[in-house]
Amino acid sequence: MHLNIVVAFCCFWLQAWAAKDYLFKNCDQSGFCSRNRHYRRQVENSGRHIPYFVDPSSIELKNDKLEATLYKKLESNELVKLPFEFSLLKGDNVRLKIDEDRSKVRIKGLNTKRYDETAQAIFDGPEEDKYVSLKEKVDIGKDSITIVYGADKQFKAVLDLNSVVLTIYYQDHPQVSFNSKQLLNFEHFRSEEENVQNVHSELESTFDMFHDSFADSKDDSLRLGPESVAADIVFHNFDHVYGIPEHADSLSLKETTDSSWPYRLYNVDIFEYYSESRMPMYGSIPIMTATNPTVSVGVMWMNSADTYVDVNKASKPKSVTSHWISEAGVLDLIISMGESPATINKNLGLLTGYVQLPQLFSLGYHQCRWMYNDEEDVLDINSKFDKYEIPYDTIWLDVDYTDTRKYFTWDPDSFPDPQRMLRKLDHTGRNMVILIDPHFKLDYEISDHIDKYGIGQKNSRNETYKHHCWPGESVWIDSLNPSAQEYWDKLHESSKDNAVFGEAQNVHIWNDMSEPSVFDGPETSAHKDNLHYGNWEHRSLHNLVGKSFHELTYNSLVKRASNDQRQRPFILTRSFFAGSQRTAATWTGDNMAKWEYLRTSIPMTLTLNAVNMPFAGADVGGFFGDPSKELLTRWYQTGIWYPFFRAHAHLDSRRREPWVPGEPFTSYIKDAIRLRYSLLPAFYTSFYESSTDGSPVMKPLYYSNPENEDVYAIDDQFFLGNSGLMVKPVTEQNARYVEVYIPDTEPYYEFTDGFPQADAIRLSSPGTIKKSVDLGTIPMYLKGGHILTRKDRYRRSSRLMRHDPYHLVVALDNSGSAQGLLYVDDEESFAYRSGNFAISAFEATGNTIKGAVFAGNDVIRKELDGIVIEKITVLGADDVNAAEVSQDGKKWEAAINRKDGILELVGPKLSINKDWEVKLRKSTRHDEL
Ligand code: NOJ
Repeated sequence: MHLNIVVAFCCFWLQAWAAKDYLFKNCDQSGFCSRNRHYRRQVENSGRHIPYFVDPSSIELKNDKLEATLYKKLESNELVKLPFEFSLLKGDNVRLKIDEDRSKVRIKGLNTKRYDETAQAIFDGPEEDKYVSLKEKVDIGKDSITIVYGADKQFKAVLDLNSVVLTIYYQDHPQVSFNSKQLLNFEHFRSEEENVQNVHSELESTFDMFHDSFADSKDDSLRLGPESVAADIVFHNFDHVYGIPEHADSLSLKETTDSSWPYRLYNVDIFEYYSESRMPMYGSIPIMTATNPTVSVGVMWMNSADTYVDVNKASKPKSVTSHWISEAGVLDLIISMGESPATINKNLGLLTGYVQLPQLFSLGYHQCRWMYNDEEDVLDINSKFDKYEIPYDTIWLDVDYTDTRKYFTWDPDSFPDPQRMLRKLDHTGRNMVILIDPHFKLDYEISDHIDKYGIGQKNSRNETYKHHCWPGESVWIDSLNPSAQEYWDKLHESSKDNAVFGEAQNVHIWNDMSEPSVFDGPETSAHKDNLHYGNWEHRSLHNLVGKSFHELTYNSLVKRASNDQRQRPFILTRSFFAGSQRTAATWTGDNMAKWEYLRTSIPMTLTLNAVNMPFAGADVGGFFGDPSKELLTRWYQTGIWYPFFRAHAHLDSRRREPWVPGEPFTSYIKDAIRLRYSLLPAFYTSFYESSTDGSPVMKPLYYSNPENEDVYAIDDQFFLGNSGLMVKPVTEQNARYVEVYIPDTEPYYEFTDGFPQADAIRLSSPGTIKKSVDLGTIPMYLKGGHILTRKDRYRRSSRLMRHDPYHLVVALDNSGSAQGLLYVDDEESFAYRSGNFAISAFEATGNTIKGAVFAGNDVIRKELDGIVIEKITVLGADDVNAAEVSQDGKKWEAAINRKDGILELVGPKLSINKDWEVKLRKSTRHDEL
């Protein structure tokens, strides 16, 4: 090819791929990010920095926190006063907060305080309840404050008053420090005229302080001028850091300092995102974690403004430096420390809350596409699942079920009688999810109401904000306005008169486009100088908006009934923030039907799981485009492991429901979906555990094997919660084999496609094995030491499985033991909160297998009566072939099946609501007679 043609082709190709980059600011194009990076370079090069110090005479212990004044010293020697707090919160969480007194700053119609409500929005419950008394823990010296904490006083936080460096020690070794690189930067308030005296000329840049020079952002009024907050946090003796979703990137975060793209946290509607990128996406959770074999750390940067995070790694001594840069708000930081990665989830969850226990149906398979055209289409899809004997729970309707994209209406031609359709779905135990977005088309009842009562987002002139989204010109509900809640409640009421929901119980909600997406807005979102309730600028709380929207919906849905029997709401949100897990599930947005998006879906979902947002998944099949039959099959085989398992497709893509590709693909897809259903007890139990301690449902290997640093960057393999199932999905085209990493020396029993086998991989040291695969193969293993619970009958939906018997798979470890857990409740209501649940703890040791049942009340015990364990499969018990079963004072011999080296107890008929015991033994002559 001629060189010019090659160049032209390459440019075209690059352009085609870089089509949307121009919409989003990288660090160099963003005033506050670029200024802070400039500052970092100047500090590094000159060894000088802007002085900050805490005035020791100002320190006071007030309501369990230390309050003081921190000073920033300007070049003119003038001091800027910054109120400062230092405290200890529940769960061994140290908090440090820096604010600015802007009470003298007055700008008409604008709240001029720094936004300090992010923490309250993140916290589950009142902030005041989170503090731990500092009595006998704190020592205030002349130059430093020391807090010693932890059950064994193993942690120590030392704040140097002269440098504002905070170092946290574990057993006297420094693990993490704040501001040790002296990158703390607090751009205090000044007017454009005063600016010259307020800038350290050699250290600071003035780029875009009062004006925004970027594309569609040029009309940003920036009425408060520069107000960024930034600081460095160094993880000492760590190689890997994780978290800060949402990015289409690896689990272990990459170095960014030489790129224009630090990890950016700014919720946006990113069209056709890249499969490997640090660009902003729909949601953000400002939590970063780090793990080494001795200790784990979590950092939560409680700021909801546009934020960039640079990551830089050093090898001698080994450390990871993160540089956090936010456009506005207060600096409010939590540093959490614990002995394992799981402790960090638990401890941060004491502040942020854990995932809400989902209804069981929502862990089943969700069938979605944009768009199922009408009632007939919906019911036809519904019956095809039965025809092909594929279980599913929920069918979804995308934006066009509405009358011309006016939410809270149904299109009268396509859906003339929604209640009839919902009833028909209900007959087979199925549900429907419908989409409700936060924007409302102009000139209909709802937008008129929002405008008239002033409960919409406002522009900087305090008029209702009007811009474009799906329906054309629209207004946006301000979900931070308490009066919006009342109106939203009314719209969601369950009653005969409610035209959208009626009294149906099987209709649930999808809150989409909630970043918010504004088609003609800067960077596809709302203008940063918009106003919310309280006259807060959108700039300061942008990343919270999606969360506040799905919470608005949640609050309305829980009001539908007033007792325990009400259903736990199911809401899918596209935009999220720290704390979203309490009320919604999420997914990774508009991916593409390409292999690389299948691959990236795994680290993306693992990352969300690692920061307490486990109810997540990716569009199975890929949203844009048409997957090949092979890709579609592999995507289902991977998708069954996403905690949230939904197929979805764009309007322009071809139909691809499981039966569409035909054989052998349809059978493989069916097998995969059926496997998901048989594992629902394990998924539900994992969610129960996560709802009490934050443990990931899709669990990275560094949780199971924190002692083995070789697993720290593995992000194509994972465990299902604490079930012991380890999976390595096939994500390469035409794969003939996969490499599976075996992280320890326990037996890993072959469980390919969900069938227990006696063969186990037993390595003398951790390492990689090769496993051959064909198109039907889902490589998976059950780790010795676990007891897995499953239900094997095919049913049309999860609701119909309720009374089905259980099958226990006992996988013995090297010492002949195993443990497992099963959580059971009514699968849909909040009654479990008042005791209507049961937990079975299973244990195998020395040829005895036991089930001990804790039932929270008699109601559940009665409900579970008659539900039995019909089979127990034992892996690794080579020398036994008889079993005596006992329950309720009765004893009987179990029928035994020994095939292919597996021991099966067939039909032991053990009720799951009472304790039981099985004694395995070698058969005697007497047994055989
Ligand atoms: C954007 C969502 O990401 C996508 O899943 C949905 O189909 C479209 N909005 C249309 O509502």
